[in-house]
Parts: sequence; structure tokens; C-alpha cells
Amino acid sequence: MSFLEIDDLRPERVQRVIDRAIALKSGSVAVPRLLAGQGVALLFEKPSARTRTSTEMAVFSLGGHPIYLRGEEVGLDTRETVEDVTRVLAGYCALIAARTFAHSTLERMVSISNVPVVNLLSDMAHPCQVLADLITMKQHFGDLEGRRIAYIGDGNNVAASLALGCAYTGVEIVVASPDGYQLQEEVVDRVRNIGGNLGLTTEPYEAVRDADVLYTDVWTSMGQEEETAVRRVAFAGFGIDDDLLGAAPDHAIVLHCLPAHRGEEISASVLEGPRSKVWEQAANRMDAFRSLAIELFDDEFRNGKVPSNG
Ligand code: CP
Ligand code: NVA
Repeated sequence: MSFLEIDDLRPERVQRVIDRAIALKSGSVAVPRLLAGQGVALLFEKPSARTRTSTEMAVFSLGGHPIYLRGEEVGLDTRETVEDVTRVLAGYCALIAARTFAHSTLERMVSISNVPVVNLLSDMAHPCQVLADLITMKQHFGDLEGRRIAYIGDGNNVAASLALGCAYTGVEIVVASPDGYQLQEEVVDRVRNIGGNLGLTTEPYEAVRDADVLYTDVWTSMGQEEETAVRRVAFAGFGIDDDLLGAAPDHAIVLHCLPAHRGEEISASVLEGPRSKVWEQAANRMDAFRSLAIELFDDEFRNGKVPSNG
């Protein structure tokens, strides 16, 4: 099965991915040689530090061989179609993981692939990031149910996956964004339809009042660079700084998927301060992917399929 967004898995499976990742990290569960002798294609249309490295290391530690490919190198829809590239990669690899501009590119991959496809970030979702975010919260607090996140900033791909992840794990989320940059209505409906406790506001101070976690992401996502100046104006007052953190409960921690822009969505003092857990969060990306791969291949094995290397 493929994983393009959090709600592609059932809630209990998301919980299992989180718990298994924590067990893998602590060493209480051994890392299986699940991908021994298998290739995993990692196809990137956009830059990455964390996602590429954590995914490569996860595949390596599961015994597999990660193959990093740039979008321009394979020429998606220029040299050949997305569908043709996908079929060819699936002939060599047990899994295709991709970071794309358009979410529809991933859907086209899924429609033709006979191996699982994993979303490593698209314009609409970043579910592997959110697995690591929930792992970080559970590690820190010991639980998830009933916790509250104040997400301050752009209602973007990360915010969408985070809202779905919260709905699946019993975490309340309030998204504070300027007018025009709120979560898409389709996402809000999806979250509420699965019983998520989601609040929307334009007031960051209201959002953080009862929060356990303050979360932010860049104001300008990859692919939106031309809007940078306009967004800086629109998002003024939506950065997490010492004043905003001071308005949250004393126990609240700060998360950021990174990369960070100090002085924009987060101040240097908050990012480097004792309540920031961003480096643990980034490190958790590797166990998140290991645990996810185990979950997805579990499925393949149960369906009588073994990863094919062509
Ligand atoms: N958080 C995250 O996905 O980082 P990269 O863009 O560096 O992979
Ligand atoms: N919203 C950001 C996340 C980066 C990890 C982007 O899409 O660029």
C-alpha cells in the first residue's frame, strides 16, 4: 500500500508506527533486515536535507539500497512521462519515495505503480514529517491523547498533515494564520469528518494560551519563492518569539519541521532555547521512516507479495 497522506493509514496503524518508532529508537525492538538486497528509489523535485538523509539512512539500516534521483535528471514529463518513470523504477525497487511539486504527480505514480509509493512532501502534504512530530511529542510527554498544539503560520502542506495526524491521535490543534493563508477548506472538512478537534483563528496569542506544543513552519514554501516579499508582510506578527512563548503554559515545547528562518517564523532565542525540541524532532525522521517502511511492507507480506527487485 502507498502512503501519500496520514489518513491513507487507519488511526490504529498510525499509532503503531509511532510506538514502533519509539521502540526502534530505544533499542527495545531490533531493526529488521527487511529490505535486504532491495532497492528504494528516492526521487526529489525539490531540495532536502533532513528527508533525503533520514530516508537514505533508514533504508540502509533496513538492509536496502537507497537510490537518490533528481526530478530534472529523470525528466519527469519532459524526458518521459511520470507513469513511464514510475513503471521503470518499480522494476528495480521495492519502494518508490518521492518529493514533488504537485501532489497529483504522486497520485499518478500510485495509479501505475506495483510497489508502494511514499510521499516525501508535496504541495499538499508532508506526512512523514508529521509522524516524526507525533513521535517527538509522545517521547516528550509520554502520551498524545488530549494534548494541544498551537500551529502558528501558513496553513500549508505541513499544517494539513499535522491536522490530520492530530485527529488520528486525539490531539487538539488550533491553527493561527493570517486571513488568506488558513488551512484549505477541504482539509478542514476532512479533519472534522474523522472527528478531529480543530480550531482556526487569526490570533496567535489566543492559540497558544492552553497549548502543550507551539509549532511553526516557513512562511514561504518551496515553489512559492516569488511570493516571499508579500508573505513577509502578511505573516508579520505570526512568528514564535519569546513574548508569544511567554503567553503559553510553562511546560509548552516548541517544534519546527525546519529549515528555519530566524527572525521570521521563529526567533533565534526560541529556536536555540531550552524549550525547543527541533533537533530531536529532526532526528526522529529516521525512525519514523523505518517504522513506516515496516508497516507498509507488513501489508505487502500479508498480501502474499514480497518486495521485488526485478
Ligand atoms: N523538514 C524537512 O522535510 O526538511 P527537508 O526539506 O530538509 O527534507
Ligand atoms: N512547507 C515547507 C516545508 C519544508 C520541509 C515547504 O513545503 O517548503
